[in-house]
Amino acid sequence: MDFYRGKRVLITGGSSGIGLATAIELARQGAKVAIAARDGARLASAAEEIRKAAHRAEAVVVTVAMDVTSTASVEAGVKQALEALGGVDVVVNNAGYAQPGYIDQLTEADYVAMLEVNYLGAVRVIRALLPHFMERRQGAIVNVTSMLGFMGTFGYSAYCGSKYALSGYTEALRQDMLPFGVSVHLCYPPTTKTPGLDKENENKPPEAWAIEGSSRAFGAEAVAKAILDGVQSKRFHIVVGMDSGLIWLAQRFAPWLVRWSIDGILMKHLKQHGDGRSKLAAKSEPPPAAPATPTAASAPTKSRADD
Ligand SMILES: NC(=O)c1ccc[n+]([C@@H]2O[C@H](COP(=O)([O-])OP(=O)(O)OC[C@H]3O[C@@H](n4cnc5c(N)ncnc54)[C@H](OP(=O)(O)O)[C@@H]3O)[C@@H](O)[C@H]2O)c1
Repeated sequence: MDFYRGKRVLITGGSSGIGLATAIELARQGAKVAIAARDGARLASAAEEIRKAAHRAEAVVVTVAMDVTSTASVEAGVKQALEALGGVDVVVNNAGYAQPGYIDQLTEADYVAMLEVNYLGAVRVIRALLPHFMERRQGAIVNVTSMLGFMGTFGYSAYCGSKYALSGYTEALRQDMLPFGVSVHLCYPPTTKTPGLDKENENKPPEAWAIEGSSRAFGAEAVAKAILDGVQSKRFHIVVGMDSGLIWLAQRFAPWLVRWSIDGILMKHLKQHGDGRSKLAAKSEPPPAAPATPTAASAPTKSRADD
């Protein structure tokens, strides 16, 4: 419990969902947190929520107005966080979003926008903090990717591209930081109940619902705890929950099994329900054809899902 006491942590996307839950847990454990996001009103109410949930009136919670798609905004925000906290020991690059859609309907602008936030957003924050970390020869960097940062599924082409980019970058970053004693971590949240997920679900094709199946959504608190445990135990890959761990292992060691299983569900769904484009236009909701109870072969899809 003492590991985070007094640690100075910057969390992008700290005003909602996983970022907010992480900030709350850190404040509970005595860390000083800076939460960064674009909407000032949401930041202020999140800061209030963090102080209350932490049950510590003296909790240090700093709000930083920052848009990770702008280098100038990131540089100013990082400077503000460094000054307000007196340094940064841990940064959690969590700001991000998923916009699912049929591959022929997603626009080039959709691809660029997701790359800007989900990938380059994290790169910008890290670049702004590198001199600080390298000079002090310590620190921790957590990049929040997704289970779709290691497996691609129907309807998530643009999102997968952006999260795979973040995963690849983070693999390299880990080695670049080794000589400087900076630990690097890659978190793959599964489907997690957040305001971001609610928005994402509005445009989720029925085929993607079918693949997601009956998997349960995690609470943001569980993801937050996994992130904090992972950093403390210096784990590079932070996978949340047993099902996600099995999928991660399967994708590493038997990717054909994951493809076979998900392809099977997709094709069965298409056979029974047809192409979902018209249904999505009418309004997307989970179709009745959720996959049956998971078997060894279908286990990889049980909690696909993720965002
Ligand atoms: N929820 C899931 O099922 C799930 C699963 C796997 C991975 N993830 C990943 O986990 C992370 C958090 O997701 P979430 O579901 O907790 O999202 P969320 O509830 O929508 O929160 C997103 C946060 O990011 C901030 N943000 C968005 N765009 C930004 C920008 N350009 N600059 C700065 N801040 C920005 C938002 O605040 P403002 O809008 O005010 O800027 C908000 O604080 C994302 O990277 C997501 O891809 C989520």
